[in-house]
Amino acid sequence: SGITDNLEKIFETENLTPDLLVPVLEAEGSQLSELFEFADQVRRQYCGDTVHIRAILEFSNHCRCDCAYCGLFAGNKNLTRFRMTPEEIVGAAQLAAKAGYRTLVLQSGEDLWYSKERMGEIIREIKAETGLVLTLSVGERPFDDYAYWKSCGADRFLIKHETADRALYDWYHPHSDYQQRFSCQKELSRLGYELGSGFMVGLPGQTVETLAKDILHLKELRVTMAGIGPYICHPGTRLRGSRDGSAELTLKAVALSRIVLKDAYLPSTTALNIKGGLRDALNCGANVIMQKVTPYQYRELYDIYPGRETKDMDFKKQLDDLKCALAQMGRTGV
Ligand code: 5AD
Repeated sequence: SGITDNLEKIFETENLTPDLLVPVLEAEGSQLSELFEFADQVRRQYCGDTVHIRAILEFSNHCRCDCAYCGLFAGNKNLTRFRMTPEEIVGAAQLAAKAGYRTLVLQSGEDLWYSKERMGEIIREIKAETGLVLTLSVGERPFDDYAYWKSCGADRFLIKHETADRALYDWYHPHSDYQQRFSCQKELSRLGYELGSGFMVGLPGQTVETLAKDILHLKELRVTMAGIGPYICHPGTRLRGSRDGSAELTLKAVALSRIVLKDAYLPSTTALNIKGGLRDALNCGANVIMQKVTPYQYRELYDIYPGRETKDMDFKKQLDDLKCALAQMGRTGV
């Protein structure tokens, strides 16, 4: 039987509960096409045909955390660590701006070498030299650091909730807990950052009920952005040997998030692109793509999960090629 009535109801309801979303996450066959078509229409109505292209600079792979799924975990002795100097970071930002990018995401492990002041200086310089819209993705910090970086000119902050199952969250993050992550997210919003959250699909132990709660968490937080990607097993972690999350289930979560959130920025995440999902994601709700501008010598060291692209290409050509590919899909990359 069809699910369009159910989707209409989800689209219109303000106070959603997980039980409304679960059947959609279990959609199969022709129901899947209904879901993707509905999400594509909501995307067209609320976001238009623009695809927002974000440059991402992965500037340090040092990390104090021990996330069970991530290859950068603190205890990983089989990883060569790197850290870009403030001059290198500002230089890379200038290259990205020159190539035509308008938004830059600065991402790293939780690396305290970048103190509040040092990070603040990097932010000030990038804003002064390039005018790029700046997103930070550097994890949990004292609220005072967040406030200072905002005053230095940072615009957005990306800190995913990763999973809305509290017990699972605490098990996967022995160095922190769900409550702490949630407090950081609320504080960042309060400080005036545009907040990005998101979660992984197919984490061992996760159920469709968890995914329903993940999507409702995005709504509750009123995120402006949500990165939703499949879990990809890294053989050097505690989760070695586990199954990867499925691209199809990830697409369902993206589509449903579009219907619930309406106008949020929803990227086709790097992890989903690795699974071949880019084109499909853009046709079922996604409207953002991230492109690496990390210097080539560091790329393979930013080994969060396997399969990430490391081949050499000129930033300008990389951006122009992407815009061409998007145009062929009837979309406009900016
Ligand atoms: N598979 C998929 N995504 C992962 N991340 C970290 N480890 C993995 C993995 N094994 C994601 C997390 C994090 C982002 C930087 O990468 O969602 O927020």
